[in-house]
Amino acid sequence: MRGRFVVLEGGEGAGKSTQLACIREWLAASGREVVTTREPGGTETAERIRALLLDSPDGSITPTAETLLVFAARSLHIDAVIAPALAAGHDVVCDRFVDASFAYQGAGRGVDPTRIAALESWVCGSLRPDLVIVLDIDPAEGRARAAERSAPDRFEREAPAFAERVRQGYLARARAEPGRYAVVDAAAPPEQVSARIERVLGDHLTP
Ligand code: TMP
Repeated sequence: MRGRFVVLEGGEGAGKSTQLACIREWLAASGREVVTTREPGGTETAERIRALLLDSPDGSITPTAETLLVFAARSLHIDAVIAPALAAGHDVVCDRFVDASFAYQGAGRGVDPTRIAALESWVCGSLRPDLVIVLDIDPAEGRARAAERSAPDRFEREAPAFAERVRQGYLARARAEPGRYAVVDAAAPPEQVSARIERVLGDHLTP
């Protein structure tokens, strides 16, 4: 039996790392093996692409190149990690996936979503997450939280309007397919966010 595929998305400072651990624990309670991974990244080469995306050495990455790079990394990641794990019956929890491309490259950078959808069907085939949890936070609040942690990367250095477009991009996708998406308010204290995520997992996934 194919494993369950859960994706966690959200803007800067939404608290993804803490909540990934919560999802992992919830899935593991069923006794199945859980693979935790991330995008862009998840394989050695995809992690090198990630480094380019987060800090392009000469600042020359165009929106088109950026989109192709995230999908190049995704192709490597699906083939080497995600598809084999699911086929082996393991659950996979992934820190970002295709929705990030629609939100960041599509809504954020203005890349035509039909091009992103074409790349999705080429690279992902029929693979879709069983559940996408979107941690939603006001970008100004998220940025203030993230600034306490580390130096901003190439995406985090974008103007606030970019972060707001990304946020709206996620919310629009979640609205369009409520059966496969859940939006969780990430401004609440982390324990409350985790409790809400556990309810969402119970409601959407089969044991
Ligand atoms: P993160 O560690 O915050 O998840 O950093 C990854 C960055 O990569 C984040 O700013 C969003 C960006 N990204 C895209 O722009 N498109 C994508 O498809 C993915 C997966 C991530």
